[in-house]
Amino acid sequence: MKALVLSGGSGTRLRPFSHSMPKQLIPVANKPVLEHVLANIRDLGVTDVGVIVGDRAADVSRALGDGTRSGVRITYLRQESPLGLAHCVRLAREFLGDDDFVMYLGDNMLPAGIGQVAAEFTEHRPAAHVVVHKVADPSAFGVVELDSAGRVEHLVEKPRNPRSDLALIGVYFFTPAIHEAVAAIAPSSRGELEITDAVQWLVDQGAPVRATQYSGYWKDVGRVEDVLECNRVLLEGVESRVSGEVDDASVIKGPVVIEEGARVVRSLVEGPTIIGPRSVVEDSTVGPYTTLGAGCVVRGTRLDASIALDGAVITGVRRLSGSLVGREARVALGAQGPAEHRLVVGDHCRIEVTG
Ligand code: TTP
Repeated sequence: MKALVLSGGSGTRLRPFSHSMPKQLIPVANKPVLEHVLANIRDLGVTDVGVIVGDRAADVSRALGDGTRSGVRITYLRQESPLGLAHCVRLAREFLGDDDFVMYLGDNMLPAGIGQVAAEFTEHRPAAHVVVHKVADPSAFGVVELDSAGRVEHLVEKPRNPRSDLALIGVYFFTPAIHEAVAAIAPSSRGELEITDAVQWLVDQGAPVRATQYSGYWKDVGRVEDVLECNRVLLEGVESRVSGEVDDASVIKGPVVIEEGARVVRSLVEGPTIIGPRSVVEDSTVGPYTTLGAGCVVRGTRLDASIALDGAVITGVRRLSGSLVGREARVALGAQGPAEHRLVVGDHCRIEVTG
């Protein structure tokens, strides 16, 4: 079996971060989403991985290399523009050959893995095996309707009036039968070749299509809120490890990772929290549910339920919560004091001030 990981797309919902990095490289528990994805694929024993990349191909290949570090072998496949998930399968025709494969959207997090689904697919080997999850607002997702025997009857992409609450998760298992389906469909009204249309084509041809209802935690980290929530869930599993320095005036409470070269000075760090390599925390309270990337500085600040990416600097902020701070970004108390805000804000940023 092979794997096809989709890491193109435009990531409009994750602006402004997606202006400067592919959303699939956003760190969750201080590891890019794509590394979590590759770990789940490798855990299936699948090592031959095609990665679809778009405009940000160079960033993705710099982060993942040839896959050796993740225990897989990566072939990069360039998609000139994001023409849809089924377009990715068309593009990968030669790479996939006549193998079965798992298609995995590169912004989907399933921390408990996909071993159970893979086992079900291997046992029955239907033309397509989709994974579904009950959601409160199905209209934002591909939605699946099952018959009374649990077979897939109908799939609709982002329906206005959903007839089921089962959303498609971004993991699909296919036999080579999918290639005829993706070749047969036409672009949808939004101009994309939809994988839902390709799977529906298989259903209409009478091909077996099965579904597994996934019971574990799942998140498509398409928006900032999703990234923060997913970070919180993954941090729940963190185990304490202190490789950096903590001075005598500091207190570490709960599960906290302090990476190599990091320094905690006169501060309280409350777990679950990760302080990245070479980061400095001084006269601050950090955590719970917080990750600092590499080389961050947090000084005279109270920070919780947040993610700071590499090189972020946060100083003199009374309380920062539920925030995602980009690489090398600076958040500081200004010289004009707390009564006045001064902002240098790039495109598509979102700032909430106290008044
Ligand atoms: P989406 O999240 O559906 O699309 P997007 O990345 O364009 O994001 P947004 O809606 O915020 O603009 O894509 C799901 C995954 O599939 C994601 O990892 C990007 C990837 N993808 C491709 O690789 N090629 C494509 O043509 C599309 C549509 C998505």
